[in-house]
Amino acid sequence: MEHEHPDSVRAGRRRRVLITGAGGQLGRALGQAFAADDVVALSRTEWDVSLPAPDKVSRGGFDLVLHTAAWTDVDRAEADPQGAAAVNIAGTANAAALGAPLVTFSTDYVFDGRKRKPYVESDGANPLSAYGRTKLHGEAAAGADAWIVRTSWLFGPTGHNFVRTMLRLGVERDEVAVVDDQRGCPTYARHLAIAVRALVDTDRPRGVWHVAAGGDCTWADFAEAIFAEAGLGCRVRRVTSEELGRPAPRPEYAVVRSERPGAPVLPHWHAGLRACLAELVSPGSR
Ligand SMILES: NC(=O)c1ccc[n+]([C@@H]2O[C@H](COP(=O)([O-])OP(=O)(O)OC[C@H]3O[C@@H](n4cnc5c(N)ncnc54)[C@H](OP(=O)(O)O)[C@@H]3O)[C@@H](O)[C@H]2O)c1
Repeated sequence: MEHEHPDSVRAGRRRRVLITGAGGQLGRALGQAFAADDVVALSRTEWDVSLPAPDKVSRGGFDLVLHTAAWTDVDRAEADPQGAAAVNIAGTANAAALGAPLVTFSTDYVFDGRKRKPYVESDGANPLSAYGRTKLHGEAAAGADAWIVRTSWLFGPTGHNFVRTMLRLGVERDEVAVVDDQRGCPTYARHLAIAVRALVDTDRPRGVWHVAAGGDCTWADFAEAIFAEAGLGCRVRRVTSEELGRPAPRPEYAVVRSERPGAPVLPHWHAGLRACLAELVSPGSR
């Protein structure tokens, strides 16, 4: 298949790529996936995206912006929706204002979960939580010319995520209570990062793309798989979301799939889990 090449490739120089939120789990994975490029990876201290870009960023001459910086604390967004909006909406507008081709990231939590069949790109959004609403408005702030990658239940070897939490609790406790009435696609950040690179490198059309791991499960299923793979004897007590009583409502069914031709296909979540655990055992080996 013929693809348009960016100016940087035609000019014979390495593509200049900006990653925002570079300290986060997806930001780190993208740094690895785009390692052949000329990557500038900025953490929050270097650019707080809720503010306009500093001069050195706005004049950076980027060929591509991978915008992962986000307010991702779903529960805390209920108490501070304006704080979440400043990052997820204004921050995305600030990234789009750089004027370079933009990839921004969104979430299965833009859906209300009532469909009970996988959500595809043409399904209507109806977020249940403040976080989901800010992410949906953030999609609009990215503009019509961005790649908007909606993913699900991200995990990786660093940062705050369910796998790392379960590994810690699995050592400390004999039993953990985990919700069994929310279903999604636990997605390994590195698998997503590789898929994002494919999306960009093959110059897929802009717009919304659903990119999440193959298979689906509940959080309780996922916890059991984590304990089994890690050889931990901790039991999972299956509970309802109501019993757990978290501040933010979450969709009961948050499985996302793509209906678009040429969409990247990710490995099954179980393969992602194994790869993540291997990475935790011997960092940098993969
Ligand atoms: N995690 C999930 O389950 C999930 C699911 C679906 C979609 N997504 C989306 O995927 C993307 C990446 O998520 P992730 O899991 O990699 O999140 P993450 O690990 O929480 O990383 C987000 C990064 O953004 C940074 N950040 C927060 N506020 C900022 C600001 N004002 N300016 C600059 N940087 C800021 C954070 O820095 P600090 O560490 O200093 O706060 C952190 O390094 C996000 O768009 C998220 O909404 C995530």
